[in-house]
Amino acid sequence: MTAPITAAGSAGELSDDELLSAYAWDRPEAAPGRPYVRFNFVTSADGAAAVNGRSGALGDGADHRVFELLRRTADVILVGAGTVRAEGYAGELLDAESQSWRIARGMTSHPAVAIVSGRLDLDPDGPFFQQAPVRPLILTTATAAAERRVALERVADVVVAGEQAVEPAQAAALLAERGFARVLCEGGPQLFGSFQAAGLVDELCLTVSPLLAAGSALRITAGAPEAVPPQRLELAQVLRGGDTLLLRYLSVPA
Ligand SMILES: NC(=O)c1ccc[n+]([C@@H]2O[C@H](COP(=O)([O-])OP(=O)(O)OC[C@H]3O[C@@H](n4cnc5c(N)ncnc54)[C@H](OP(=O)(O)O)[C@@H]3O)[C@@H](O)[C@H]2O)c1
Repeated sequence: MTAPITAAGSAGELSDDELLSAYAWDRPEAAPGRPYVRFNFVTSADGAAAVNGRSGALGDGADHRVFELLRRTADVILVGAGTVRAEGYAGELLDAESQSWRIARGMTSHPAVAIVSGRLDLDPDGPFFQQAPVRPLILTTATAAAERRVALERVADVVVAGEQAVEPAQAAALLAERGFARVLCEGGPQLFGSFQAAGLVDELCLTVSPLLAAGSALRITAGAPEAVPPQRLELAQVLRGGDTLLLRYLSVPA
């Protein structure tokens, strides 16, 4: 059964079409000349981005519903190698209903998928590549090990997007060259930190889970230098699914 989601302060349940409107990619002015970059994360009420090294325990039906609908309308899913290693990411990216929805609108059945990795510590024979519904794109560095690159080129397009680290601006330009205007970034924290430092976070969709995770788990962001000034966000939308909050924040120009 579909998890019910309502607008905060309202009892009316939102349909999938209403949720898609609520998450429309309708801010081209926020990203002139480059793809629009939307991040999607889930956090516990005490700020944990993972429980026992994975985010699965933080999400519930409402979070999964929005997660799927955000994927449905994206051109490309961008994800850090650490998240792929932790979460697996193998198999279909979308359920059958979402695939049909896209096909009916003249889109490819799945969005593209792009992984960011400096070390290329990814197994070309592992389930992610072997079961991928679309040939993945890997964004890497000029200093990545040549033999790993050759091995991965069997199963993915491998493109250089920086010298020592993948530069978010170069990554965005490469995605634009491939015709991707709507980038859905699913983390993780280091990738988010590098995009934050580069001023390339246009939107943050954040599920706040009614859980106290305790421990010393990661936050949703990591690795950005301390010198990066706090970025102001505008709270554009508050939805709820039971005790779970589904927040939509938009970047505010500096
Ligand atoms: N709560 C949530 O919504 C959520 C979402 C996603 C992930 N997570 C959790 O986050 C944890 C993983 O954290 P993480 O920080 O390792 O995730 P991550 O950002 O996905 O992965 C970090 C790795 O990605 C690559 N990378 C990221 N940015 C890069 C850049 N600018 N240049 C070059 N390489 C870059 C590097 O890969 P190489 O090492 O291959 O060079 C780096 O080691 C897991 O526990 C996962 O479950 C939570």
